[in-house]
Amino acid sequence: MKLDLPPTLPESAEELSTLRQRFPADFVWGVATSAFQIEGATHTGGRGDSIWDSFCRVPGAIADGSNADVACDHYHLLEADLDILSKLGVNAYRYSVSWPRVQPLGQGPWNEEGFAFYERLLAGLERRGIAAHLTLHHWDLPQALQDQGGWVNRQTAEHFARYARETARRFGARTASIATHNEPWVMATLGHEVGIFAPGWKERKAAMQVAHHLLVAHGLALQAMREEGCPAPLGIVLNQSPIHPATDSPEDKAKARLDDGLIVRWYMDPLFLARYPADVIEHLGSDAPQVVEGDLALIAQPLDFLGINYYTRAYASAGDPANSTREKGELTDMGWEVHPDGLTELLVRLNADYRLPAIYITENGAAYKDELIDGRVHDKDRIRYLLSHMSAAADALEHGVNLRAYFVWSLFDNFEWASGLSKRFGIIHVDYETQRRTFKDSAYTYRAFLAAA
Ligand code: FCB
Repeated sequence: MKLDLPPTLPESAEELSTLRQRFPADFVWGVATSAFQIEGATHTGGRGDSIWDSFCRVPGAIADGSNADVACDHYHLLEADLDILSKLGVNAYRYSVSWPRVQPLGQGPWNEEGFAFYERLLAGLERRGIAAHLTLHHWDLPQALQDQGGWVNRQTAEHFARYARETARRFGARTASIATHNEPWVMATLGHEVGIFAPGWKERKAAMQVAHHLLVAHGLALQAMREEGCPAPLGIVLNQSPIHPATDSPEDKAKARLDDGLIVRWYMDPLFLARYPADVIEHLGSDAPQVVEGDLALIAQPLDFLGINYYTRAYASAGDPANSTREKGELTDMGWEVHPDGLTELLVRLNADYRLPAIYITENGAAYKDELIDGRVHDKDRIRYLLSHMSAAADALEHGVNLRAYFVWSLFDNFEWASGLSKRFGIIHVDYETQRRTFKDSAYTYRAFLAAA
C-alpha cells in the first residue's frame, strides 16, 4: 500500500493539536477489530466452526447473503496489515482471539497452528512497538459447544475459563490488557431473544440465562487467569448507551428506566455491586435466570479496567415509537443517531453510580456509504463523527472520569455481522475483490491527530 502524498485534510493541524492536548501524554490511542470480522481463513489451519459460521449458512440471516470465509483475509495478509498499523501511528491495537481457531471443539486439544497465528500477530506488534489489547470472546463460540447448548449450558463457562487460562498462560505477559467478553448484552439478547445474531434463538428466558452464564464465565476466567499469574490488566467490554424516554410521559420515563435496567444496570450492578437490579428481576418474573450461590461474588471480582463500546444513544417508548417527540440528530448508515454528548453523559453517570476502575473506550466509530474514487475516500462524515466523539471523551476526562484509552472501530471495513459486507466501518477501505487496502481521509486524519504535538 502506498502512502506517498499526505492529502489535504478538512481539519486544520491546529484543530487536531488542540484536541490532542486535551488528553494526557500517556493516553492509549488505537484501532479495534475482531477475529471473525477480518480473519477469513475459516477452514484453514485446523480452525473449527464457530456459531457465526453456522449462522451465515442460514438462508436470509445475513442481509447481503455474504459470509466471513474470506472477509479481509487478514489471516494471510497479517504482516502487511501490521505495517498499516505502523503507518497509522497508533500505539495500541485491540483484536480478538478466535476460540475455535485455538481450540476447534471448545474443549479438549489445543490447535498449535491456531496459537501460532496469534503468536505471529503478537510478535509483529512487539516489533512495531504497538501494545496488544486482546479480547477472548467476540461472539465466535465454537459450534461444538453450541451443539451442547452453548451459553445456556453452564458448563460452557467452565470450558471458557480453561481457554482463558491457556491463552493467558501463553500471551498474558506480553499483552497490555485482556478482556473476557465483548458486549455480553448483544450475545445474550440479540443472539437469544431477538434472534438476529448467532445462534438465532428467540426466547427471553434462555437469553437471560445466557446473560448470567456469560458473567459467570467472566468470573471464572478472571479467577483462572489470576491463578495463572497473568500480569496483564483484566476486564470486560460492555456496549452501553444513555437511554432517553421518547416523550416526557410517565410511561416512557418508566420504560427508559427499565431499558436502562436491562442493558446498563443488568451488567454494571453484578460486576460492581454484586447484585442484580431488583426492578429488573421483578419485571422478568419467571424469565429471571437461575443464580447459584456464590455466583455474584464470583462475578464481582475486582476488575483492572472496564471497556465501553459507544455508538449512539437509545430511546425508550412504552407505546408507538413513532410518537416520539425527540428530535434526532443525523444518522449513520446503520441508522444510528450521531450523538457525541451521550458518550460524556454515559461516562459521567457510570462514574457517579459505581466505583469504576480505569475506563477504556474499546469501540467508537461509524458506518457510512463510502465511495472510493481515484484512490481516495472523502469520508468527511466519519471524520466529524470521530473528532466529535474524541472531544466528548475529553469532556469526560475533564469531569474526572479515569479514561485511559480510545479505540476507533474499525481499522478496516469488515464483516459487519448480520449486515454482512454491506456496512463499512473502516478508516481503511477494503476492496473485497482484490483485498486492496486504501487509507480513507479519516485514516489520514487520525494519523495527523496522532502525530500532532
Ligand atoms: C459492536 C461490535 C463490533 C462491531 C460494531 C459496529 O457491537 O462489538 O464487532 O460490529 O458494533
